[in-house]
Amino acid sequence: MNQPLRIAIIGAGVIGAVHARLISGLGDRATLAAVVDIDPTRAKTLADRYGVPAYASAAEAYTAQRLDLASVCVPSAYHSPVAVEALEAGLNVIIEKPVDVTLDAADRIIAAEKKSGRTVSVISQRRFQPVASYIHEAIARGELGRVTSGTVESAFFRSQAYYDSGDWRGTIAIDGGGALMNQGIHALDLLIWMLGTPVSVVAHTRCLAHQNIEVEDVAGALISFESGAVGVLLASTAAYPGLPVRLAVHGAGGTAVMENDRLAYFSSTTATAPEAATLTERDVPEGWSEVDMAHQRQYRDVLEAITQGRRPGVTTAEGRRALQTVLAVYESARTGQPVALSN
Ligand SMILES: NC(=O)c1ccc[n+]([C@@H]2O[C@H](COP(=O)([O-])OP(=O)(O)OC[C@H]3O[C@@H](n4cnc5c(N)ncnc54)[C@H](O)[C@@H]3O)[C@@H](O)[C@H]2O)c1
Repeated sequence: MNQPLRIAIIGAGVIGAVHARLISGLGDRATLAAVVDIDPTRAKTLADRYGVPAYASAAEAYTAQRLDLASVCVPSAYHSPVAVEALEAGLNVIIEKPVDVTLDAADRIIAAEKKSGRTVSVISQRRFQPVASYIHEAIARGELGRVTSGTVESAFFRSQAYYDSGDWRGTIAIDGGGALMNQGIHALDLLIWMLGTPVSVVAHTRCLAHQNIEVEDVAGALISFESGAVGVLLASTAAYPGLPVRLAVHGAGGTAVMENDRLAYFSSTTATAPEAATLTERDVPEGWSEVDMAHQRQYRDVLEAITQGRRPGVTTAEGRRALQTVLAVYESARTGQPVALSN
């Protein structure tokens, strides 16, 4: 049997703590071996919870231990330097979304990935929800016919206290954007996964309900896809009290709707609707959500990709595509013009 892969979490903040919990449930496939944070108290607090060593820099951890995988959980604009450092040290890498906040930074990750030959995946855990996978497969099986349109809504709410809770939140330089770059990118990635390559974008963004942030709290976009399909996107952090992500995909032969982590509607000229109960997670541990389960499923995918030498379910190219589309939304909103995406 393979030895468990040894994982270092880089960044012991909100999502770093979630990763630690996800890893602790991976059984004998993987083990948390190190926690790194430039804030030593944060590193130690999380490391102590799992009885592993804490380090104040990734370099220290890579020197001290043999590690297989780094999970990059630092603020968004630091993803590329931290991921490149891990790749140069010979580790495989999981990067939290967004891949980074500029295309140049994403390209530096992709170049280091190619040079190293290691596995790199960008988190987009909603793709691993059973209902999202089902809709993706139904499209591939032709059950919706020619896909003609899709809509996604990420109508969330984040309080002013959320933006005030970290000096990087809501900044252009480090968060890279607002309701779309940070939150709505999950839903946007689902739309791209379902509808294919985006080719142009027309968009509006606004900041309407928060103070002292440099980014949007509402973004609306019309996205045209290579296939001809049309997508409609809403991303907000100003939609009190916040609703679950909703995705609808329509085709000439059917429609599928995901809402509240469930298959809310399915109709096809060629296929019968699945039992909704078969598309929900079973055995969700106490205190976990459906989305946590999907996040852990993506970990399993990456571990399998590493051991089998196959591509992970979400590649860096796909992370870059989602980022490129977010940046096109921002450019269109700024210029008032449609923006073509170069492919
Ligand atoms: N997939 C999801 O659902 C999800 C949810 C939340 C956050 N995220 C992403 O995770 C990332 C982190 O978000 P967060 O909310 O956990 O932020 P956070 O501010 O709570 O935590 C970030 C941590 O990184 C540390 N850090 C900064 N630079 C570092 C470095 N060079 N080396 C080591 N540690 C460093 C900080 O001290 C801090 O403890 C963001 O990119 C965010 O978009 C993803």
